[in-house]
Amino acid sequence: AAAKGMRLGSCFAYGQPGADRGSFANPAYAALLKRDCGLLVGENEMKWQALRPSATRFDFARFDAMMAWATANAMPVRGHNLLWHQPKWMPRWEETHNFGATPVRAAERLLVDHITTVCRRYGTRIPSYDVVNEAVNPADGALYQTALSRAMGGAEPTLDLAFHTARAAAPHAQLVYNDYMSWEPGNATHRAGVLKLLEGFKARGVPVDALGVQSHLVTQGTDTRATIAALDGDWRRFLDAVTGMGYGLVITELDVRDNGLPADIAVRDRGVADFTRGYLDLMFAYPAVRDVLLWGMTDRYSWIEGFEPRKDKVPRRPCPYDSAFKPKPMHAAIAAAL
Ligand code: XIL
Repeated sequence: AAAKGMRLGSCFAYGQPGADRGSFANPAYAALLKRDCGLLVGENEMKWQALRPSATRFDFARFDAMMAWATANAMPVRGHNLLWHQPKWMPRWEETHNFGATPVRAAERLLVDHITTVCRRYGTRIPSYDVVNEAVNPADGALYQTALSRAMGGAEPTLDLAFHTARAAAPHAQLVYNDYMSWEPGNATHRAGVLKLLEGFKARGVPVDALGVQSHLVTQGTDTRATIAALDGDWRRFLDAVTGMGYGLVITELDVRDNGLPADIAVRDRGVADFTRGYLDLMFAYPAVRDVLLWGMTDRYSWIEGFEPRKDKVPRRPCPYDSAFKPKPMHAAIAAAL
């Protein structure tokens, strides 16, 4: 990746004593991150739910510890995220927060204070932010509303303000809109909603530099070649439209769900590797892609098992390393695609 002027990285986590879930506190995982990664991102620790115990308080303890480790190892960290624009991902107190007699001003103050405080704290150690995460409802392509955006009088001004504030507080940083609108035919409405949002940002002069393509991939059965071939229609047109507007692309959260593949480990690992390769070949054909992040390097810590277990309950294998930290065919596939 470095030889091509690109960066390959992964999410990592704080973990708790005794539970090393994806954490730099596990020496074996720390060594793996240091060996393979030129960029990191906190899996959960920058989200409002983690940083904001209340409207008036910040708790930076965990994320500071992660940043200290990354800085000590000379690794830049992406900021994920400054606003996850979905009610279920905002902290519970936000739902019932009293925005007072001048709600627009109170909401603006809350958002500006949050983004400015976070961005100023980490400065140039964070070269890129997911300023807004998942604002588009895949069911109808419209923007979600949260208590914050209701107080502000709409989702659009809320998202616009988030980006303007991030640009002012972190002028060095790449500002990203991040979403999971994937390539499958069933996601046309989601993709259309994201395109509309990106067009709106351009029309209103909102400082957004790139689209974060999460890339939580799903294989569609045993015919991996057919799955790869299916990428070549609507998905390519979507990426053409995004890059045609001048946006960069970041692969922010790559992992693979081996749906439709038989339980046999060798078959699944081969299918996952082939699909990863086909996907990356298509993505890397866009010079707009500079950074690629895995959503975890090892199956051991991946969120996928909890998010969507296999129907047959055979443990998922979504990452480049297995649970014993042994590289899988997916690891070689990523290297080959680069
Ligand atoms: C996930 C984490 O991996 C989980 O540990 C957490 O419980 C929920 O969030 N899209 C995103 C990420 O933008 O923040 C999500 O991370 C995965 C989907």
